[in-house]
Amino acid sequence: MVKTVPAMGWNTWNTFGRDINEEVVLRSADVMAASGLKEKGYEYIVIDDCWSLRERDKDGKLVADPVKFPHGMKYVADYVHSKGLKFGMYSCAGALTCDCYPGSYEHEFVDAKTFAEWGVDYLKYDYCFHSTGNPGHLLYKRMGIALANSGRDILFSACSWGADDTRVWIKETGANSWRSTGDVFDSWESVKGIIQYQLKYMEFNGQGCFNDLDMLVCGMNAKGNVGRTGCTTEEYFTHFAFWCMYGSTLMLGNDIREMDEITKEIVTNEKLIRIDQDSKYCQPFFAWGKLEKNIDRSIKNDTFYSNYPLSVPVLARYLDDGTIAIGLFNLSDGKSNKWNGTILTESVGVPESSGKKLRLTDVHTGEVITSANGVVRIPDTEAHASRVYIAEVID
Ligand code: GAL
Repeated sequence: MVKTVPAMGWNTWNTFGRDINEEVVLRSADVMAASGLKEKGYEYIVIDDCWSLRERDKDGKLVADPVKFPHGMKYVADYVHSKGLKFGMYSCAGALTCDCYPGSYEHEFVDAKTFAEWGVDYLKYDYCFHSTGNPGHLLYKRMGIALANSGRDILFSACSWGADDTRVWIKETGANSWRSTGDVFDSWESVKGIIQYQLKYMEFNGQGCFNDLDMLVCGMNAKGNVGRTGCTTEEYFTHFAFWCMYGSTLMLGNDIREMDEITKEIVTNEKLIRIDQDSKYCQPFFAWGKLEKNIDRSIKNDTFYSNYPLSVPVLARYLDDGTIAIGLFNLSDGKSNKWNGTILTESVGVPESSGKKLRLTDVHTGEVITSANGVVRIPDTEAHASRVYIAEVID
């Protein structure tokens, strides 16, 4: 499938881990369809690891666990489709999945066919227990070409955590997204760690093969499979805002059947989703920091990234209508670490000499700021908070 914006949906793993079943999946589909999430763009219902029996059948096919999924996977797929949604499943490039269920190694074509027969629209493909004799690019090529010949349009979502230089070869495989990080957990440390680490991989994100910063933990509130300390509302907002500024896939990981209003407000913020799903899909760039001129941005040059003020990354991204998304993320810890900096309009391509100004509208509060003398003064931003603006170029 040609999908030119990042996939949006919900995945079982963060909350339910091994403890998945038909009821959870069907009710989550109901909620996605009826609660307004679908209208905002969330469309995939994805079952992660632990859905199958431990053994294949006599024909070598994967079998859905009849206790967890008593009506089989075709039934689940049909139900999800009946809600106007799409259905995703999970397998692994290794002989086993990460939780030791059968993986697709040496069964790629038969599994792709099985998924197609069941009505699967999306396959998350993990990297545990992969054979060391076959490099990652060959393992992902196998499933990429198997899906392409399965008789059904199945979006290929690679999940090799960036290992073995995934960024170099992933676009060869037909994957529509690649997990550019290890696993997320529901804590500020985890979210912050991913943000800082992913700044380095920004330039590999692109239309048709998006970086996947892992599933969202917004609204997990320390519960569930990857629940840890939980995050504050501010931190969950920063998390969602960064994923959108970056242009990551957006897979909800909380229990959407019990989503509170604050979480819903965060993950359905139309302006943030509009930035994430921008049709032109330009790459984000750093809009603040002394290193913007004459720098070697090659990935090998770690100096650039370690010199960059990682505690407050300020990113900008050109949007398809001539506006500019600008996001600043105060990752510093400690209550006194407010950020009250300025952004030069020049850093987003609008020098003072052009006679133009920027008018910035905060995507969250609606507050408007206009640049003066080529400078945008950002209001104080508390530690762990963030601000995202849509900036118009005005006279
Ligand atoms: C990990 C993957 C997680 C989840 C888990 C299932 O490798 O990164 O997102 O799919 O496996 O066992």
